[in-house]
Amino acid sequence: MYRSHTCGDLRASHNNQEVTLSGWVQKSRDKGFVIWVDLRDRYGVTQLIFDEERTSKSLLEQARSLGREFVIQVKGTVIERASKNPNMPTGDIELLVKELTILNKALVPPFTIEDKTDGGEDLRMKYRYLDIRRNPVKNNLIFRHKVSMEVRKFLSNEGFIEVETPYLIKSTPEGARDFVVPSRMNEGQFYALPQSPQTFKQLLMVGGMDKYFQIVKCFRDEDLRADRQPEFTQIDCEMAFVEQEDILNVFEGLTKYLLKEIKGINIENFPRMTYDDAMRKYGNDKPDIRFGMEFGELNAIAQHKDFSIFNDAELVVGIAVPGGAAYTRKEIDALVDWVRRPQIGAKGMVYVRFNEDGTYKSSVDKFYDEADLAKWAEVTNAKPGDLICVLSGDANKTRSQLSALRMELAQRLGLRNPEEFAPLWVIDFPLLELDEETGNYHAMHHPFTSPKPGQLEMLDTDPGAVKANAYDLVLNGNEIGGGSIRIHDKEMQATMFKHLGFTPEEAKAQFGFLMDAFQFGAPPHGGLAFGLDRLVSIIGGQETIRDFIAFPKNNSGRDVMIDAPAFIDNEQLKELHLKLDLKA
Ligand code: AMO
Repeated sequence: MYRSHTCGDLRASHNNQEVTLSGWVQKSRDKGFVIWVDLRDRYGVTQLIFDEERTSKSLLEQARSLGREFVIQVKGTVIERASKNPNMPTGDIELLVKELTILNKALVPPFTIEDKTDGGEDLRMKYRYLDIRRNPVKNNLIFRHKVSMEVRKFLSNEGFIEVETPYLIKSTPEGARDFVVPSRMNEGQFYALPQSPQTFKQLLMVGGMDKYFQIVKCFRDEDLRADRQPEFTQIDCEMAFVEQEDILNVFEGLTKYLLKEIKGINIENFPRMTYDDAMRKYGNDKPDIRFGMEFGELNAIAQHKDFSIFNDAELVVGIAVPGGAAYTRKEIDALVDWVRRPQIGAKGMVYVRFNEDGTYKSSVDKFYDEADLAKWAEVTNAKPGDLICVLSGDANKTRSQLSALRMELAQRLGLRNPEEFAPLWVIDFPLLELDEETGNYHAMHHPFTSPKPGQLEMLDTDPGAVKANAYDLVLNGNEIGGGSIRIHDKEMQATMFKHLGFTPEEAKAQFGFLMDAFQFGAPPHGGLAFGLDRLVSIIGGQETIRDFIAFPKNNSGRDVMIDAPAFIDNEQLKELHLKLDLKA
């Protein structure tokens, strides 16, 4: 038996008991006549004591030979500590060791295995197994497990069946590039790893499964960000015989259940906002509604003075920054520089100080008097003491620039409290999105999403205006889930493909199996997928998903621990009928 208890178990009630513990040496302190060793495992830390009075010489020598992260087993007696540590659950006791076995030695770890480590990101990723020994990472993984368990429990209780779908498939269009896998047995042919199980879950509905879910890996070859990984996990769901309302209710229920079970937070009904409103009020289809700073459109009151920049703009729009009137000139200049950075791309920023005494001072005083500026304050909902920041230009670009500024300022002002949860359904997404570069439309969600009833005809006349039965669940400014009611009619699906620029032959070659299935009694159906990594990190109070994934990839899509991706040898290339040899 390696252990009778874990390193997190022992309390004063265990005093005088003989126990066996196993774990890692966190640290040791050698005072000459006494040696203390902190022994750690997944469950906690227990202090071991060796002293001249009660410990044999050879055992003391052995204790002295221990290095950090050695794996040891100790047998001994639980005793009351002379000086107790109220900050440790096991702080009332220590273990007087009688027998010590070194189970494995360890090299000196490349960074300290402490909550606050001296290891940089790269080093921690290279030795991720050591990083996982640290509380912050370990606790995140345990937290993720808890969320997954609760998801399975909730959905199973609601009658959902977890069904596994294949990973070696062909392209599922979710807007990213595919990772592909060459086939040895089918020369020149490739599988694609699923960007999502979208088509399979729809086929499961045709198969009569009715309520499906799966906690499943998805693969997308796209540029990485803090909330994106090339392989990530979805809670993927689909239901038959449902309308949008049914789906929103079930998954609102799931989200409420998780917040209640995991955080002890009760949230009433989630607000809903149309995509158009979200863009107008927040310049963003995933608005963070934990704080105000809603957009105020100023065209009607700021144009037609003598300020040509505003007069020439499609949109003039501002936000009120709480307390911002007190910013120094230097601080405001820094904000102007911030919006002019290439990542944001604004040409400039007009500002108005709405002073505590009710007066106004703006960067455009030449063109606007106090009465004008008072109207700006009204439209942007500014209070005395606020700073009104105004951007102008092309409507879409200006909205997204002001949205970035809103989020940045909210972050700086501490308005994005990670312990506050503000979910929001964004509904009525456009069906299609114009690709500015190619001038073509592509599906905003995916090509299987149905248009709102009666809007199909508009595809010919005004494709950009067609709305979809598509919805996203937003939590604290992050898109944590998205889905739609699907097309279940072959003809309508063919029409969609036509509008997305597929020839009938291309549509048949890529998605013939789905359109065939629609001819064999496809029920009306719809669904949604949550990003599990995002859900877990946000409920866990963070926005970087990497820290909730055991073995994540870095920003270049590499696993630096196992050093992947890697070249393969010519023999293997030949077997796969691939001629490429980049090493040569
Ligand atoms: P969608 O593409 O919106 O929908 O994805 C669903 C959710 O998955 C998460 N997500 C990601 N998380 C981490 N890294 C990524 N690279 C990444 N990409 C997406 C997001 C997102 O909301 N098949 C549809 C769902 C459906 O229609 O039912 C789909 O995949 O949280």
